[in-house]
This record gives sequence, structure tokens and C-alpha cells, in this order.
Amino acid sequence: ASQSKVENGSPSEIILDDFEDLSPLSENDDSTVSITVVGASGDLAKKKIFPALFALYYEDCLPKHFTIFGYARSKMTDAELRNMVSKTLTCRIDKRENCNEKMEEFLKRCFYHSGQYDSEEHFMDLDKKLKQHEGSRVSNRLFYLSIPPNIFLDVVKCASKSASSGNGWTRVIVEKPFGRDSDSSSALTRGLKQYLVEDQIFRWIDHYLGKELVENLSVLRFSNLVFEPLWSRQYIRNVQLIFSEDFGTEGRGGYFDRYGIIRDIMQNHLLQILALFAMETPVSLEAEDIRNEKVKVLRSMKPLQLEDVVIGQYKSHTKGGTTYPGYTEDKTVPKDSVTPTFAAAALFINNARWDGVPFLMKAGKALHTKGAEIRVQFRHVPGNLYKRSFGTDLDTATNELVIRVQPDEAIYLKINNKIPGLGMRLDRSNLNLHYAARYSKEIPDAYERLLLDAIEGERRLFIRSDELDAAWELFTPLLMELEEKRIAPELYPYGSRGPVGAHYLAAKYNVRWG
Ligand code: NDP
Ligand code: BG6
Repeated sequence: ASQSKVENGSPSEIILDDFEDLSPLSENDDSTVSITVVGASGDLAKKKIFPALFALYYEDCLPKHFTIFGYARSKMTDAELRNMVSKTLTCRIDKRENCNEKMEEFLKRCFYHSGQYDSEEHFMDLDKKLKQHEGSRVSNRLFYLSIPPNIFLDVVKCASKSASSGNGWTRVIVEKPFGRDSDSSSALTRGLKQYLVEDQIFRWIDHYLGKELVENLSVLRFSNLVFEPLWSRQYIRNVQLIFSEDFGTEGRGGYFDRYGIIRDIMQNHLLQILALFAMETPVSLEAEDIRNEKVKVLRSMKPLQLEDVVIGQYKSHTKGGTTYPGYTEDKTVPKDSVTPTFAAAALFINNARWDGVPFLMKAGKALHTKGAEIRVQFRHVPGNLYKRSFGTDLDTATNELVIRVQPDEAIYLKINNKIPGLGMRLDRSNLNLHYAARYSKEIPDAYERLLLDAIEGERRLFIRSDELDAAWELFTPLLMELEEKRIAPELYPYGSRGPVGAHYLAAKYNVRWG
């Protein structure tokens, strides 16, 4: 109760200033940034990219001179784009009175250009418009490819001339999924390099790396003496990485059926968290040093085996009079699809720190709850004094550290504690860091952090090509086997806890899902 919320600018925040320079470019800076959102009419652009750009503007984190262009095939005027964008902007960061005014100012900086994705001519028309806005300033250009993956290369090919015609830097953010397997990912990398140099490519944006609690993982481990010494096979029994959504693939079946949950969530979001969790201490906080350590972990891992994987697909379910459709009932999904919407897997890292520790991943759509968390289950207390003396059931009550990435961000440690009173009875209690209670400031959306990093040229949260190769090498043999054998997923009802097979998989390694 003695904890007060941390307010803006309080002394405890100031110590991190070296790492968190969110200030805009200096007022005298005579450069400009043009941000082109390719696929501006789409879902991601509306839901995440424009709102994140507005939040950055609102927080004064964008450079003084900037312009945002939407580019897509749909016909739209500037006014129509502004109208579309305005519907998804919110003042959630804080409740400053001038929010509406800031929105108006932001929208005035947004423009639209309609064009085909495979037309150099249309991108050159865009270039002319960009130049008009850039004037005589040093012009930096950021292109965000918010489009389906099958047209990434067309766009890069056609946009590369106009992209690089600014006289400052040019950067291209490529969304996930980056390929479907090792071969297609390498082909895409080779393709991009025909038109862009490595420095220009901000490959495979993994927005989970921009989530507050994922960013905090390194702080938790490397700046608290109590955790790092325990962070190994000696004290940790298993680690669980869990992602669940309480809705299906509604409306995204066309994309999802080609990829499935393993490529959509496990091979990127959960694997990236695993690598950050398990890496050795990097030499510094520089992007390259962190990525070096992540790659080492990925390359120390055993490629996934079919016997260590359970796949599922949701089927329709009626609850409270409402019928929730099964995956294959979606119009955009083939009736005989065997694409998994759920998967659980046991992964192992063959190095001195983690030898034999199961890292269990679970990811699913249309489950009973929505959330993402990391659970670290510790080993039993050797020769437990309390169990010997009182015969209590302490052997099942091992410590567990839970990092709740979303929603309602929190970090809590489950400990054994004496129940107050004259007798000696123990229970499990939580040492709890609940973000909403501790910090008054809203947590920024992951896309804000990633966009800001791209504008500042910071690559720590983007994926290097050797990381990408290592990630695909782990999953490609399994994915090929699943597809070649057309292995049927275990069906689970919409809104349930997923297939029972996931429990057998965990039990095989003496684990209970948290
Ligand atoms: P959309 O399906 O909404 O596509 C974006 C835009 O691309 C559309 O508005 C459309 O614009 C154009 N487009 C769509 N289909 C085609 C096609 N077959 N050929 C050519 N153009 C097409 O995608 P999202 O916005 O959902 O996703 C964009 C990217 O971001 C994808 O790579 C996706 O994997 C990734 N992503 C999306 C997330 C999300 O929550 N939506 C989350 C994480 C990643 P127009 O017709 O006007 O040209
Ligand atoms: C995307 C996946 O990368 O992440 C989606 O393609 C998923 O299928 C989404 O819904 C989840 O992101 P978040 O930030 O809402 O947890």
C-alpha cells in the first residue's frame, strides 16, 4: 500500500534516460521524414499503424518536419483517407485537453496516393508528390509494407527508384510473415537485396518485441541480482510461453489458411520471446550484441520433432444460444483444410545453461481466453524442511514466476507463505507487480516503439537475416512433415481450452500448464 504510482518525470524514471531518448529531432534539424504506408486501405494500417503514428506525434516523438502518405489501389481522396484514419485515432495516451486539436494537426499531415503495387510509374507519381512536400530539406523516407506477403517483392521492385530518390536515408519495414519456410524466406531476402541494400531493410517487424513486458525481460534478468543466478537448468524446471485469443480467424481465413498458427505465432512471436528469455548476457545493449546472443540460442536448439507437437483446429460450438462457427465454416477457408489454429510444442536448447529444460509453447485461436504470458516453474526445494516436518503438500507448490505480457500487464512470483495465526499452516501467495496499480502512464502500443525505432535507425527489435534463417531451420522440417502427411489436427470446440493432447504433451515432460 505504500507504493505510489510513478508519475511522469518522477526521479525513479529519470535514471533510465540514457536508454529512452524519445525526444524529437532538434528544432533546428533541417531534415524531413516522409512515411509511406503501403496498403493504407487495409486492416493493419487502420488498426495499428496510423494510430501508432498519431500517438508518436501526440507525444512529440516525431521529427518536426514529417509527412505521411497512404498508398493503395483503392480510390480515395486525401479527405477520405483522413476521414478513415480519424475513426481509429484515440487520445488514450493521456487526457490532455488539446487532443482534438492535435488530431486535426496530425490529419493535415496525412495524404493519399492511389496506385498499383506493380507499377513503377505509379510509384514515380508518388515520388513527385513526396518531393513537393519535402521541398529543399534533406529528405528521409520510410516505407511500411502493410500488404499481403505475396506482393512484398513487386512493391519493393517498383518503389525502389522512388524510395531512394530522397537525399537522406531510405528504410523499408517489411511485415511478417517473412516467407513460409527456409527456402521461401531466403528467396525473399535475395529478392529484396536486388533492390535494396541491407541497411535499408527493416526486416520482419515482430511487434511482440515492442511489447512493454517483452522489452522488460532483459531488465528483469540483468539488473536484478535475485533472478539471473536462478536463470538456468539448475533451478528452473520448465518455461511456458503461452498465447491465446478468444476469437477465430474471422475475415483473415485467406491469409491464415496458407500459414497456420505455427507460422503465424510460434515461429516468430513466441520464438523471439524464448530467445530473449534464454540468451546469455549480451556484451552491451547495442542491437548487434543482443541479436548475436539471440542467434546463439536459436542455433543451439533442436529442430522440432513431430512427436513433440500437438496441433488442433477449432470446430463450431453453441453457447448461451449463440453458435460460434468452426474454422472450416469460414467462406475463405477450404472445407477440408487441415491448417492448425492451435499448436503446442516442446522445445529444447542444447547448451550448458538449458540442457534438458523443456520450453513449452502453446498458441491458439478461438480459445476460452485472450492473453500472452511467460511462466517459469522452478524446481522443488531440496530436502524441504517444511515437508519433512509437517508433511504438507509442498512438493507440488514450487515457486513460479509469471510475466503477463497482456492484457493487464503484471509480473508476479508465487511463493509459499505462512498463514498468519498460532498454528503452522502454509499457503501459496503472490509477490505482485501489477502495472496498472504501479504506473499511472498508459503502456504504449508495440507499433509505436517499432515505428520510432525505425525512424531513429535502431534495429534492436527487428530481425537479422541469420536470426531469421535459424528460426526457419527449427520449424521447416516439422512444417513440411505436417503438410506432406496432411496430418489431421485434433478438433476442439470454439471457446474451449484447446485439444486435450496438449495436456498429454506437457505430462510427457512432467509439466502442468499454468
Ligand atoms: P489486408 O488484407 O487488409 O491488406 C492490406 C491492403 O493490401 C488491402 O487494403 C488491399 O488494398 C491490399 N490487398 C489485399 N489483398 C491483396 C491482394 N491479394 N493483392 C494485392 N493487394 C491486396 O492485410 P492486413 O492489413 O491485415 O495486413 C497487412 C500485412 O501485415 C500482412 O503482411 C499481414 O500478414 C501483416 N500483419 C497483419 C496484422 C493484422 O492485425 N491485420 C498483424 C500482424 C501482421 P487495396 O485493395 O486498396 O490495394
Ligand atoms: C499477428 C498475427 O502477428 O499477431 C495475428 O498475425 C494475431 O494472427 C496478432 O492476432 C496478435 O497480436 P496482439 O498484439 O493483438 O496480441
